Amino acid sequence: MCGIVGYVGKEQAAPILLDGLSRLEYRGYDSAGVAVYSGRDQGLNVHKAKGRLKVLSGLLDGGAAVEGTVGVGHTRWATHGAPSDENSHPQVSRSGKIAVVHNGIIENYGELKAFLQGQGVPFTSETDTEVVAHLVEYFQKDGADILTAVGRCLRRIEGAYALGIISADEPDRLIAVRKDSPLILGYGDGCTFLASDITAILRHTRRASYMDDGEAAVLTRDGIQCYDHLMQPIEKEICQVDWEIDAAEKGGYEHFMFKEIMEQPEALRRAVFPRIRNGEVFLEDFALSDEYIKSLRNIHIVACGSSYHVGMVGKYNLEKMLRLPVEVTLGSEFRYMDPIVDEKTLVIVISQSGETLDTMAALREARRRGASILSIVNVVGSSIARESDQVLYTWAGPEIAVATTKAYTTQLAVLDLLGLYMSRVLGSMPAEERRAVLEDFKTLPEKLEKVLSCKDGVQYYASQYFNRDSVFYIGRNVDYALGLEGSLKLKEISYVHSEAYASGELKHGTISLIEEGSLVVALGTCLRLFDKAMSNIVEVKSRGGDVLALTTESRAAEMAKTANGVIAIPDAHPMLLPLLGVAPLQLFAYYAALMRGCDIDKPRNLAKSVTVE
Ligand code: G6P
Repeated sequence: MCGIVGYVGKEQAAPILLDGLSRLEYRGYDSAGVAVYSGRDQGLNVHKAKGRLKVLSGLLDGGAAVEGTVGVGHTRWATHGAPSDENSHPQVSRSGKIAVVHNGIIENYGELKAFLQGQGVPFTSETDTEVVAHLVEYFQKDGADILTAVGRCLRRIEGAYALGIISADEPDRLIAVRKDSPLILGYGDGCTFLASDITAILRHTRRASYMDDGEAAVLTRDGIQCYDHLMQPIEKEICQVDWEIDAAEKGGYEHFMFKEIMEQPEALRRAVFPRIRNGEVFLEDFALSDEYIKSLRNIHIVACGSSYHVGMVGKYNLEKMLRLPVEVTLGSEFRYMDPIVDEKTLVIVISQSGETLDTMAALREARRRGASILSIVNVVGSSIARESDQVLYTWAGPEIAVATTKAYTTQLAVLDLLGLYMSRVLGSMPAEERRAVLEDFKTLPEKLEKVLSCKDGVQYYASQYFNRDSVFYIGRNVDYALGLEGSLKLKEISYVHSEAYASGELKHGTISLIEEGSLVVALGTCLRLFDKAMSNIVEVKSRGGDVLALTTESRAAEMAKTANGVIAIPDAHPMLLPLLGVAPLQLFAYYAALMRGCDIDKPRNLAKSVTVE
């Protein structure tokens, strides 16, 4: 999705803006632009280009060609108007004196555009954002300063927005405002920054404030003044961001996705080890009382994309551990249903970015219905984390590749730990079994290392099957949930059509699609259902399909008698197997995409953090 960077300081702004934008490329975008104040004669220097950031950077000689020490930059992911130079941001007012970068959607832009056109304002783009530039200028007609005009503008616009605004008449400052779209303020030495994502400014500062909804800020070289929704000055807390810069760099790997797959054992260690103490689960700052947990009638998990798939595995595991009904709903569906959620419901929100708009909307709807919100989030200080009653961080570190890997694994691990914790309170699981799972948990990072060390085997299978037209993932129980994630990984980065089905559903329709040349990835890690998995493999094979199977080491030889190929993972407690089983599926998707020549870290049309509905 769109990215914003802003800088006010003493250094040349354009190279800093372009570098910041390059750190946001991973979020997905289709065009980019910068606006820099280049002195009284030149005014605002605005440069925009459709396509990859390198196109813009090439035009500007890496930024060296643009003078000036104050500016804003943007990477755009088209919503209103196709990707084009004109529709790229910054959008500029009629006089050319006000430039605006925007993430989000101005919902009433049509009405505002009609009003402005009625005032004789010509529009040059199809974007919703352009109305903001013109409206701010309109509100300066009486000589109002830029902050006052922005304040007036905010009273007229509806929707979601993070805005960065620069005016040639007040060139020593940037204005920032936020509603339902993240915006971070950074504090440097003699300079300040604006960013939609901390990775954009991590090279320059680790001191940051997170803007809240309805807030505005004025950034100058000397500091940042923040304002509440009534434009009253407020003090914001400054946090120290502890993410390592290197963690957001490729570090010698060809792709972020591969790096992040390989980082999973370490990420699991970080997410799990500090949370197991004296044979029990310990959750930091855990505020849900035992009484509250005992009073729960149901659990509702809401999430999108891969985080939703974590919830699908979680449903099987939590219901087993807690004997409470667990429902899993897509964030985008939740608010349009009439969910059975009240003060006796724990709503678990899962999100890597903590900014997914649909998930956030579901969170707010659940809160409105009286539920307690516990979120499992990776990005510290993100909107979902801040709006939840309780947050369990995944501590996976920055995840840059659009296709999530280490966030998935750590989310799942944290969800399992939460289940184990609650099962102790509820007495819903035998203590010996809980301890056995926890013992196994401690061995997982090492087992995962072993899985990853067999990557060449997965690469071989990818080389055999990467050019298939359709791939079906089948499994039962947690293997079905795992298949959903395997299938999503493959289609999102390799563009191979793939679907996941509960194996039992094959005979209800899907089997009609199986023919000579179809590839079925049969997941059979759930050993109590092993025989069923074998039967499904036979069904597929007898219809001419090829089967690549996944099971544990103890059953691999048996499966190999029927399947065309078998990938084996170490044996572990059944609830933990998805944590190991997902890695070969990630690797399979990765190698297939590599062999198909795809842009692995930035797949077409996709974004890392989806901040529109
Ligand atoms: C996007 C990403 C997915 C992610 C989903 C939910 O579609 O490409 O990898 O699973 O959003 O994101 P979240 O940050 O809420 O987990």
